[in-house]
Formats: sequence, C-alpha cells, structure tokens
Amino acid sequence: MRPRPPEFDFTTPVDRRAVPGDKWGRYAGRDVIPMWVADMDFAAPPAVLEALHARIDHGVFGYTDAWPSLIEAVVEGIARDHDWHIEPDWLVWLPGVVTGFNVACALAGGSGDGVFTATPVYPPFLGAPANVGRQLQRADLVCAADHWQWDWEAVDAAIDARTRMILLCNPHNPVGRVFTRDELSAVADRALRHDLIICSDEIHCGLVLDGTHVPIAAIDPHVARRTITLMAPSKTWNIAALYSSFAIIPDPVLRRRYRRAMRGLVPHPNVLGLVATEAAYREGNAWRLALLDTLRHNRDQVMAAVAALPGLRTTVPEATYLAWIDCREAGLDDPAAFFEAHGVGLSDGKAFGAPAGWLRLNFGCPPVTLQAGLDRMATALSAR
Ligand SMILES: Cc1ncc(COP(=O)(O)O)c(C=O)c1O
Repeated sequence: MRPRPPEFDFTTPVDRRAVPGDKWGRYAGRDVIPMWVADMDFAAPPAVLEALHARIDHGVFGYTDAWPSLIEAVVEGIARDHDWHIEPDWLVWLPGVVTGFNVACALAGGSGDGVFTATPVYPPFLGAPANVGRQLQRADLVCAADHWQWDWEAVDAAIDARTRMILLCNPHNPVGRVFTRDELSAVADRALRHDLIICSDEIHCGLVLDGTHVPIAAIDPHVARRTITLMAPSKTWNIAALYSSFAIIPDPVLRRRYRRAMRGLVPHPNVLGLVATEAAYREGNAWRLALLDTLRHNRDQVMAAVAALPGLRTTVPEATYLAWIDCREAGLDDPAAFFEAHGVGLSDGKAFGAPAGWLRLNFGCPPVTLQAGLDRMATALSAR
C-alpha cells in the first residue's frame, strides 16, 4: 500500500520572498534566514484558505460586524480548547491584540498611574503605558534551574499605590512559560488585594507544547470580573496580517468602559479576518494539533543545537515557537548583529527589556529551514 501523503504540509518551504512581508522583506536581496518577527513560514490551514476563497468569490465587501455563526465558533472553540465557557456578550471585536492592550491601558486609572508587567516581555507591552500617559512598572522574571519563574518579592516591590493594572502575557513571549494555576492565582491575589484590572494577553494560548493553558479569568468569578482577556487566531493559525482578534470581558461595566475607550479610534476587523477566524476556530483544530507536533520536533532541534553552541544557553519553551537564548557567555558584543552578519536574522533581546546578550529565535518554519539557520549559527561561532 502506498503511504498516505501528510494531511498538512509543514515541511516544504514556501517562497515568502514572492510577496511583500516584514519577516523575509527585511532581508530582501541578502542571504539571511529570517528567524525574528513572530509569524510562521507555513501556509494557513486549508479550511481557512477555502473559506477566504469562497468569500472573495462572492465579490461584495460591505461593512460587516461579527455574525452569529462566527461568535458561536469562537465560543465553542474556547470551551473545547481551554475549558472556559464564555458568553457571546462578553466578546468585543478588535483589529489586533496590541490595540486591545493599549485600549486597556487607556482605561486603567488616569494620567501618571501605573501599569505593572513582568519583564522581559513582548516589546509593545513596554511602550503601551506611556502611549496613554501611564507609568510602566516592572519586575523581572528570574531563571532558576533552567526554569523561568516569578520573583514575587520584586513584584510586590513594583506594585504600589499608583498601580491600576497588571498587564500579563500568558503563555509568555519571550520566555515561553505556560503559567500554572498557582502562579496565576498569585497574580490574581495581587490584583484583588490592590484593586487592579488584569489585562491578560493570551494570544499564544493555542500554541501550548507542554502543559495546559489556564485563562486567568477562568480561575474564579472574582478574577473574571476584573479581567480583560485578549485572544486571536493570528498566532495559532498563522494569519497575523488578517487583523482579527477579540477581548473577552465578562463584567458589563468594565466592558462598557472598554467600548467607550475604543470609540472613534478602533476600527472593526476586516471581513476577511472575521471569515478566517470562523474557519480557524470551527475547522482548524486538526491542523493546529499537527502544527504542535511539528513545533515540538522543531523545539527539540533548537534545544539540541543550542546545547552544542559554545556560550549559548536556553530553556525549554512550554508554548509558542520562540526560543529565548542567553548569549552572555559567548563573548559577543552584539549577538544579533553578529548572527545577522553570518546569515541568520534573530530578534535582539534588548527590545524586550532584557540586558544585552539575549536573543529570540523563531522556530516556526520547516525543519529544513530551521536546520540551515542553526547550522549557520554553529559555523559563525566556530569560525571566530
Ligand atoms: C504577546 C503578543 N501579543 C500580541 C502580539 C501581536 O498581536 P496583534 O498582531 O494582534 O496586534 C504578539 C505578536 O507577536 C505577541 O507575541
């Protein structure tokens, strides 16, 4: 019997230089393998592509709000994947998660009030408070025994009378943690104790490689009441530029304040993004599970390669397709520039609020591309 072809193709490289795009466009005309910005080099799921084709074939693209079957697909998908039973009314549609947490900062207190976050973190977290006249308050996560953890003393020193909101990233970009129920309860305790809003960016929740994603709002109704959860299909199903995401806000007063802060500033998501969202949540789970197998395999490839690179260390990401690499012992003045000069484009950790010497590597690509990048890193270090 002939072997069945793989149902989904995560191995054949797609030529992304053939279309405009940030990841590959940054290195147009140069022999650099891009492993920086957080999108993957995989085509979107067939079910998403089919839904988009069908909608484009219709030919008319008038103003379109989220419709009942889309809302149902999202509500059912979140129940299926995260055992969190949300009400349709709790959804507020957004064109992006970054927009979503900037809006949250705008309703957290007033000018000069504080927004706390744990660092290093996805760079737009660091700028969001200042965008709306709030102060960033931060505490570093710590890496002990190759495991990233909260430093509760540092958290308690950073949160003070000015603090109005905790901006949480879970699963965490860049350290790759899937926070446990105990850790989330400890975060929530601080929010309850200091009467803070929690804005929880859970955009990576579909990309859990080990463990289980717990939405912080699902741990307790008292926590839900003060929480704005942000989710999107964009990372999981690789449709970032379709700009469709949503906030989940169970409390009607907080939801009303949130909608008011959006008014006149935040547009609806694009209709094609909404179409893709319905297809992804309704029909994209088999593709997602196959993707996770590929990402686990890629993660192993990264762990093995980094372990053999002199002066580099990393931890095992529990989620995402991002590895957070410590290069401080490698004796490189500027690791991002060094590897870029040797043909690998990585994210410089400084943008994440880390000290010099950290890099983030995106392993969301076919294994052959990944191996080529890792080989270049090894060659670069051994040729010094
Ligand atoms: C934690 C996190 N939040 C938000 C985003 C981007 O969200 P959006 O493109 O929906 O604004 C990213 C992209 O990498 C991310 O890692």
